[in-house]
Amino acid sequence: MERATDHRVPEVLGSHRMVPLLDGRRVRQVFLDNAASTKSFRDVSDFVRTIEPYYSNIHRGTGYDSAYITELYEDARARILRFVGGDSSRHVVIPVRNTTEGLNLLANTLPLRPEDRILTTILEHHSNDLPWRGKARVEYVPVDDDGRLVLSELDRALDREPGSVRIVTFTGASNVTGQILPIPEIARRAHARGAYVIVDGAQLLPHRSFRMGPPGEPQSVDFVVFSAHKMNSPYGEGAVIGLKDPFAEAIPYLQGGGTVYSVSLDKVVWADPPDRQEAGTPNIFGMLAMARACQVLETFGMDRVEAHEKRLTVRLLGGLREIPGMRTLGSCDPAATDDRLGVVTFTIDGVHHALVAAILAFEHGVSVRSGCFCAHPLIKRLLRVPYEDEARLESAIRRGDRREIPGAVRVSIGIHNTEEDVDRFLTGVRAVAERRWRGRYLQDPATGEFHPESGPFRFSGLPSFEDPIQ
Ligand code: ALA
Repeated sequence: MERATDHRVPEVLGSHRMVPLLDGRRVRQVFLDNAASTKSFRDVSDFVRTIEPYYSNIHRGTGYDSAYITELYEDARARILRFVGGDSSRHVVIPVRNTTEGLNLLANTLPLRPEDRILTTILEHHSNDLPWRGKARVEYVPVDDDGRLVLSELDRALDREPGSVRIVTFTGASNVTGQILPIPEIARRAHARGAYVIVDGAQLLPHRSFRMGPPGEPQSVDFVVFSAHKMNSPYGEGAVIGLKDPFAEAIPYLQGGGTVYSVSLDKVVWADPPDRQEAGTPNIFGMLAMARACQVLETFGMDRVEAHEKRLTVRLLGGLREIPGMRTLGSCDPAATDDRLGVVTFTIDGVHHALVAAILAFEHGVSVRSGCFCAHPLIKRLLRVPYEDEARLESAIRRGDRREIPGAVRVSIGIHNTEEDVDRFLTGVRAVAERRWRGRYLQDPATGEFHPESGPFRFSGLPSFEDPIQ
């Protein structure tokens, strides 16, 4: 099903659908929440529909459909390996539900002693922080006031207690500031001290070409993890791609059917990877859809994805800078887009972050996300939340009061976005900054979210479980 290279941006389903506004009008939706999740490529959705009649389990059945789906599944694995420039003799592709599960898998597979050290950064999503806690001593490389990783601090940490750092794990690109980390520079430093290098690729891989590099080279990555739902394939799948040996040596994190060669009542012969790490029936169509999404991106060209998103990011940053009272978390220089994605997080002086997001949705048809983006330490650092405020905020949260949770608004560009989308977003933000909104909004103390006094969105007329079964 390879297609001739086509220079049009791949179609994304539902990205520009009509949505209702508070005043009763309907407008074309502007979906700028791609860092959270992306909508399906039409091609991925069509591909899944086409193969659906053949659904069958893999590696287990002897029938025609099972053989066919098994072949597709292994082809998907090979394509995912190629997508990240992996080496089939040394690397393995392990399907997981998402990046979070992939990082938990690594944290429970790589050999660690309590006295070992793991270096990560304060830029991380909780998924690349919490799974490591308790496995060894976790330390966080700090950022400067612009949210940039301080490499000299990484050096300092690596040189403390020589030989103690087992793992250096960091995000390829921040889901808050959009900053792309200097992967080869970090890898070289980590490998020079004998540590494994892990990249959380959830934000980076859908937007930039990524190569693991040859195993054993100083600048190469040992393990990368990513999620297909951020890559226009929202079917609940992700992958860990990395060195085979540690997986071959470890007891599987999840144990069960498919992970063994032989079981007796007192003995288990574990299978080799990847089977050893694939307990139970996997998310077969999720895997096939993920590989298809990689193929769609490759056919379009990651260089074109980058060029398209950079153009929109320059426009976005340039426009945001003109808005009074707008402050970005991290740099917002439109001339410096080489080491950043189109993920921009900001606040507007005097307007609660959740209110900004509500007004954008209800009065402009613009979807963004507000809050802490599963990166609480980074948000507190960049918003300069005083340490003593944390205890007060935590006790309010325990009482069920989330009104004052610190946070910001995040806009995140995806492949389907256009100049017009960016301009519509900027118009909305400017209106908020100039206090031009029409609705009266109420804050729900339990969630901290705002909605118009007439109530939240209603979904009558949309597909529901009340629809008759055909
Ligand atoms: N990890 C996703 C985000 O950053 C959900 O929004």
